[in-house]
Amino acid sequence: MAETEAQHSEQPDAQAPEGPDAKPEAPPPLAPEVVARRDAALAHVRKLGDPVLRTKAGLVERFDDALSDEVRRMAAIMNDALGIGLAAPQVGISHRLLVYRVAPDSPPLALVNPEITWSSRDEEIQEEGCLSIPLVHVEVERPIAVLVRAQDELGGRLIIEATGLEARVIQHEIDHLDGVLILDRTTREQRKAAMRALRDAERAAASAA
Ligand code: NI
Repeated sequence: MAETEAQHSEQPDAQAPEGPDAKPEAPPPLAPEVVARRDAALAHVRKLGDPVLRTKAGLVERFDDALSDEVRRMAAIMNDALGIGLAAPQVGISHRLLVYRVAPDSPPLALVNPEITWSSRDEEIQEEGCLSIPLVHVEVERPIAVLVRAQDELGGRLIIEATGLEARVIQHEIDHLDGVLILDRTTREQRKAAMRALRDAERAAASAA
C-alpha cells in the first residue's frame, strides 16, 4: 500500500489500494458475490491480442453527455474489476480518456487528453499488473513523479502533480492510450516468462473446457 502525495486540482488525496491496474498482494479471500461482479466486469475488458490495445488513441474533442456516460461506465467497470485504473481502449474505445483512483474509498477521477509535461529523473521499479493481461505481473521501471496536464470530463483544465502509486497508475494508463503495455516496459526475461504463463493458462483453460 503506497502512500501518495498527489495534488489534484479538485480532489483530496489519500492512500492507495492495489497497483496498476491490479496487484498481487495476498488479499483475504474475496466473497463469492465480489468475485462474480469482478468476473462480469472483466468480461467487458479487452485482453492482450485485441488490436485496440495496440492502437494509438485519438484526442477527445466532444465534452458531451456521451463522454460523461463513458466515464461513469468505465469507473463502474474499474470498481467492479477491483482495479485502480482503466483506459478507454481497454473497453474498446480508442480515445484519450482514463479513469483511476488514488484510494479504495476515494472517488474515481477522469483524465481526458492527459499529457505528461514533466517526469522526475528518479525512477523506481515496481511490480505491475493489468486488467487486460490477467494473471501477469512484471516489474516496470518508471519515474517516481510526474506532472500531468489534462482536461476533466467537462473540458476544464487540470494540472496534476503525482508521485508514488498515483504517478505509476497515470503513466500505466497513458501508456494504454499510446498502445503500450507493461510487457513492452519490462525485461526480456520477464516478458518471456509472462508469455509462457499466459500460454499455459490458455492451455489449462482449453483442456478444462
Ligand atoms: Ni493496464
